[in-house]
Amino acid sequence: MNFSDSEIVTSVMTSHDYQNADSAGEADVIFLNTCSIRDHAEQRVLNRLRELQSLRRSKPELIIGVLGCMAERLKESLLEEDTLGMRIDMVVGPDAYRDLPRLMLDAETGQKAVNVLLSAEETYADITPVRVAAGGVSAFVSIMRGCENFCSYCVVPYTRGKERSRNPESILSEIRQLLRDGYREVTLLGQNVNSYRWRGEAGDASRDFPWLLEQVAGLDPSLRVRFATSHPKDLSDELLKAMARFPNCCRSIHLPVQSGSTEVLLRMNRKYTREEYMERIGAVRRILPGCALSTDIICGFSGETEEDHRQTLSLMAWAGFDFAFMFKYSERPGTPAEKKHPDDVPEADKARRLEEVIRLQQQLSLRSNQEDVGKVVEVLVEGPSRRSASHVSGRNSHNKVVVFPDLGFRPGDYVRVEVTSCSSATLKGEALQD
Ligand code: 5AD
Ligand code: SF4
Repeated sequence: MNFSDSEIVTSVMTSHDYQNADSAGEADVIFLNTCSIRDHAEQRVLNRLRELQSLRRSKPELIIGVLGCMAERLKESLLEEDTLGMRIDMVVGPDAYRDLPRLMLDAETGQKAVNVLLSAEETYADITPVRVAAGGVSAFVSIMRGCENFCSYCVVPYTRGKERSRNPESILSEIRQLLRDGYREVTLLGQNVNSYRWRGEAGDASRDFPWLLEQVAGLDPSLRVRFATSHPKDLSDELLKAMARFPNCCRSIHLPVQSGSTEVLLRMNRKYTREEYMERIGAVRRILPGCALSTDIICGFSGETEEDHRQTLSLMAWAGFDFAFMFKYSERPGTPAEKKHPDDVPEADKARRLEEVIRLQQQLSLRSNQEDVGKVVEVLVEGPSRRSASHVSGRNSHNKVVVFPDLGFRPGDYVRVEVTSCSSATLKGEALQD
């Protein structure tokens, strides 16, 4: 989301005669687009802000702005130089990016500038993001903003505000333009994409996520379509059937489970039980056989016992996730969990449980990749491999990274690749020439 938001910020700024600088050292204005999801993310931002202060020595008029969730969460307190121990010039929340040019006028005259108003409507629908780093193959397209699920541990409903969906016409016209520009893959983005719903003028509620997905996938069969992130409660059979109808809807679903224990899920306010989650995975297997599944897991949430933890491990093994993002629970100020559910799992237990979860996931990822050895997969080439200039890398429909020798391929080419070996993170192979 932040990557996508930075493209909107770039668009707002460049349409007001600002230009992108190549490095922080060259810039007159530096914006950090920030995340508040875990304390670790915020600490990294504060460290980066401290490092950037040294640039003021050679450029006293340098403007440093904090954008995004940390701006929203900490508001004016980020401007208190004495308590913070450094100078921040601008604090701009995720719904205030249109206001950046006006805020810049304040900052350029030495005043501090703040806008942290959240909006119930802002979707930046009419702003065409300036694609900065995608290499012209794969683009993120924001389709909704905010979240009202209020998972008890999560700060996002407070930092990103009310859930709102973007006008489908603006989404489709952005994607048509991406196609004209040669893009071959879009990822539809939102905190909870599958609760997308556009009511329009007539209050017509039929324009939901399955409908949107079909519209997007129907634009061009050579355009791959992905989406992130989905909430299990909104992963309907109808959505899975819509995916099944379009081979260009990538066969990979990110479905955060967070915990394998119903008691923990209840305290997390996830709105499903272990069994209900398993039932949804059963639906994926039934309607989209062979679809890859990835997930998010939080270790050591309030009250998590060893038995709860074992249930997470057993659910992971049962589901056989292809990939996972795994975290230690980090208590966030102002969340329901901070008020109701004490952060009572000792740090050492959290760390050990996370290690166990990571170790299991590595085995599952390796097994999943080993099952692909000998198969032929279709890869969308993204560019040179990071490790070897004589190889290219891209992804298959399952969202797995595939590396193979470069026979003169270009970013955006679809190549059939026979998988010959793998690690837990990557498939390696040879292009088939037919
Ligand atoms: N502590 C740890 N992980 C968290 N996540 C969200 N909030 C927290 C928190 N307070 C994780 C969830 C979510 C992902 C984006 O970040 O797993 O799915
Ligand atoms: Fe946070 Fe839950 Fe919303 Fe995801 S669905 S952003 S975890 S509140």
